[in-house]
Parts: sequence; C-alpha cells; structure tokens
Amino acid sequence: MTRSTPLHLRPWRTGDFGAVLEALASPDMDRQFPSGETAEARAEQWLGWATGLIARPAGFAFAVCADDDEPLANLAATAIDRHDVGWVSYWTTCRARGLGIAADALAALVPWLHDEAGVWRLELGHRLNNPASGRIAERAGFLREGVERAKLKYEGRRYDTARWARLADDPRPKARRTVEL
Ligand SMILES: CC(C)(COP(=O)(O)OP(=O)(O)OC[C@H]1O[C@@H](n2cnc3c(N)ncnc32)[C@H](O)[C@@H]1OP(=O)(O)O)[C@@H](O)C(=O)NCCC(=O)NCCS
Repeated sequence: MTRSTPLHLRPWRTGDFGAVLEALASPDMDRQFPSGETAEARAEQWLGWATGLIARPAGFAFAVCADDDEPLANLAATAIDRHDVGWVSYWTTCRARGLGIAADALAALVPWLHDEAGVWRLELGHRLNNPASGRIAERAGFLREGVERAKLKYEGRRYDTARWARLADDPRPKARRTVEL
C-alpha cells in the first residue's frame, strides 16, 4: 500500500468485526470506542452503531478500503441536526497510518456530505496534542475556528480542543488519489 493506492468507501458490515477489533487494539483508539467489559464487547457495540449509520439524522459511517475491501479507516458524519450541521470523526487502523488515507478519503467524502446528504456545516474537533487530526481537517478544506478550553475530560484530566468547520460553499478539497464513493 502506498500514498497513491486507490481507495473506496462503503458502509460498515457485521463481517468487519475482526478489523474493528484490530483497530480497537491500538492504545490511541480507546477514546473512539464505547466503554465495555471486553474489547470484543466494545467492538461489537461500535460496529452495531456504525452499521446503522446510513441516513440522517443519526448520520453516516463509511469503511475506507483498498482493493481487498478490508477496512483501513473509518469516516463518520453524525448527529446531523435541523440546522444541517453535522459532526465529523475519523480513525485509521495502525497498518494504514502515515499514508494520508484519512485525509484523502475525507476530501473525497466532503462534497457528497454537502451535496447529497445536505449537510451545510461540517464540524470536527480534536485535542491539541493530536495535530495530525488537524492536518487531515485542513486537507479536507476545514477552517480552524478556535480553541475550546477544557472541552474533554479523560481519567480526571481536562483537555483543550481545536474546533474546525467547513461550509458547503467553502472551496472544495481535492483528494490526492482516486477515492470511489
Ligand atoms: C489521527 C489519525 C486519523 C491520523 O492518521 P493517518 O491517516 O495515518 O494520518 P497521516 O499520518 O497520514 O497524517 C495526516 C497528516 O498529518 C500530518 N501529521 C502527522 N503527524 C503530525 C504532527 N505531529 N504534527 C503536524 N502534522 C502531522 C501528516 O504529515 C499528514 O499531513 P500531509 O498528508 O499533508 O503530509 C490516526 O492517528 C488515528 O486514527 N488516531 C486515533 C484516532 C484519532 O485521534 N482520531 C481523530 C480524533 S479527532
């Protein structure tokens, strides 16, 4: 796999359990998944949520895959409200990191979210100590709107986050590789 390997997006399926379990094993993924007794239970709960994300208002989740159809990353746009504002999130499996996969897939998904899903404003946030996430947002044409102080609390410690957003009439991003929706 390289930085130019073509990608496609597809809905999550129950058969993706193994890939989700593998993704969850990475320590920095802990906060992307619901809490639970075991990794299997957490993966199952997450997959149940993701496979149901196929329409507004709950939103959409897509597995990002290369030609073997195995998930390499997740892209979601959820909680789409009556103001046509939605929340974007993403993660990449360990083996797919460092290849710009989330950035390219999000750049390709953004026009669909605006034009087909009718989301006017897309928002996302990340802890300030996760600059790669901000770079992905920037590459997908999001603008940084500011810092939300002490927005998140993990293990008793509070974290500032950066808020990014893009509007349907902001300049459209260009993926650096082929990404099929
Ligand atoms: C954040 C995450 C999705 C990034 O994974 P990735 O797709 O492999 O990201 P990449 O390595 O391709 O890096 C994306 C961009 O950030 C840049 N970047 C990476 N580390 C960086 C750093 N420390 N400072 C600044 N930029 C950085 C890369 O150079 C790249 O930019 P480019 O494409 O213009 O070169 C991945 O680490 C992850 O899944 N983390 C856990 C979940 C998470 O934090 N999700 C986001 C929550 S808001």
